[in-house]
Amino acid sequence: TTAARAEGAGFAFKPIDIATDHAIHVPEGYAHKVLVRWGDALWSEADGAYDPETGVSVEMSDKVFGENTDGMELFEVDGKQLIAVNSEYVNPKINLPAASEGVPQTADEVRLLKNLQGVTVMEIAEGENGFEVVKDSPYNRRITHETVMELQGPLAGHALVQTNADPEGRTVKGTMNNCGSGKTLWDTYLTCEENFNGYFGATGEMPEGEGYKRYGIGGEGRYAYEKFDTRYDISAEPNEPHRHGFVTEIDPANPGSTPIKRTALGRFKHENAEMVQASDGRIVVYMGDDERGEYLYRFVSNGVWEEGTNGGDLLNDGTLYVAKFSDDQTGEWLPLTPATTGMELAEILAFTRMAASAVGGTTMDRPEWVAANPTKVEAYVALTNNKNRGVKPNAGGDDTSVNAVNPRETNKFGQIARWTPNGGNHAADGFAWDLYVMAGNPTIYDNAYAGSDNVNAGNMFNSPDGMAFSSDGMLWIQTDGDYKNEGDFVGMGNNQMLVGNTDTGEIARFMTVPNGAEVTGLCWSADRKVAFVGVQHPGGQWPDNAGKPRSSIVAVWREDGAVIG
Ligand code: FEO
Ligand code: CA
Ligand code: CA
Ligand code: CA
Repeated sequence: TTAARAEGAGFAFKPIDIATDHAIHVPEGYAHKVLVRWGDALWSEADGAYDPETGVSVEMSDKVFGENTDGMELFEVDGKQLIAVNSEYVNPKINLPAASEGVPQTADEVRLLKNLQGVTVMEIAEGENGFEVVKDSPYNRRITHETVMELQGPLAGHALVQTNADPEGRTVKGTMNNCGSGKTLWDTYLTCEENFNGYFGATGEMPEGEGYKRYGIGGEGRYAYEKFDTRYDISAEPNEPHRHGFVTEIDPANPGSTPIKRTALGRFKHENAEMVQASDGRIVVYMGDDERGEYLYRFVSNGVWEEGTNGGDLLNDGTLYVAKFSDDQTGEWLPLTPATTGMELAEILAFTRMAASAVGGTTMDRPEWVAANPTKVEAYVALTNNKNRGVKPNAGGDDTSVNAVNPRETNKFGQIARWTPNGGNHAADGFAWDLYVMAGNPTIYDNAYAGSDNVNAGNMFNSPDGMAFSSDGMLWIQTDGDYKNEGDFVGMGNNQMLVGNTDTGEIARFMTVPNGAEVTGLCWSADRKVAFVGVQHPGGQWPDNAGKPRSSIVAVWREDGAVIG
């Protein structure tokens, strides 16, 4: 029995109330501490690198834990525990001198911002003070917007990905806007490039192409990279944006290894990558494209994975599918191939959204994380919210009228959909689906905006986003929503982490995070006695009560030492 599931009852913890303060709250009998904050040293040379007034210097910026922690996974390597974790984006106003007003003024300021994002690999160990980062571990590694990586799969080498710096189209710098994560069956890390479009800008004329518009590429970059680095200037390097927006594989056990961008898994605003092995032995990866009215995808490998082998090559050879959810609660995965889309394979992988539109997938309410139940053949997707549902089409002009799986106009609360593959096979083309929960506010609505029956005044939340299953088949749900606790959201308080019993539908609040923050990223220690939880973009001065707010990973455990995951 774990902390989540108690004998004969819904949950082994007493659900907690909402909070509106700048603190963390966990149930009675649980404790928490900060494991690592943005700016904390990964190597002793960076001890004291973080200054409460000025942040981190450019020289130390790739030797510290990055900002805005997101997806993460734990790995056991040679008896050691490593966490690989994303730093999704950076707050320029927090990191740059006040005079710059959040806009970099020099190449060094751009370098600082590039270095504080990307991925961190760090060893952690449990000592007298609980878990801490092992400084100077040979496994510690920072992967930034400048790290060299390899492009693999059918799009590698194609004219669409060739640039002046890389005429072969096979060597790329950087992984950007690393949002959710995944773990392969062969123990490597998958980092997912989400809002990569915003890093590119045009200082001159924009190139022609439907793809730029569909992916929201153009105008000014969010961090002015293009003014100091031509690689990010679309008018000079029109193909550079085609080299981002992928799932990238990193081997945490080999700090010198080159990360690999897996183009066969498609290019879109990747949220996370949930890998399972189908009953027929093939590898399946479920992936959401987090944009209003975009799609849910699945990759199925051609080859079969053998336990104990590195399956990386399987991720270069397979078929991508888009989900179609029918209103009768059945669905099918529509293959994206030259025959079904009229596009070349390389185009399908570079402009996956256009391929999905061509075959008629179901436009979704912003697919965030997908999680597969380890105890049953079923999977869940968080559809976080969608103010455009029933109001306007997506950027490709696809219809976004309400449908059974996205049933509410101007959906402000979100829902979690669940599907069961036909024949117990994740590689099957058909599935049955239902809504596990529709978030809502039953204290002010008595219509669909009240939410489903498993939502009540005691467990209300909005905007489900991160999700992960514990080994006992309990679904942990993290929110990234409205935290003002007023209007439609009154009674929901700060963002939170809840636990869902997928048999009974019951949902209970386990944790709340400081006002302003979202909860994102969840993994467990090897003995499953400690949960590591990501706190992104906190407000106030959390957790130091001085200086700047610092995105952090928090460790949570049961005071009696029992397993919680
Ligand atoms: Fe980075 Fe869709 O969350
Ligand atoms: Ca997210
Ligand atoms: Ca979100
Ligand atoms: Ca976020």
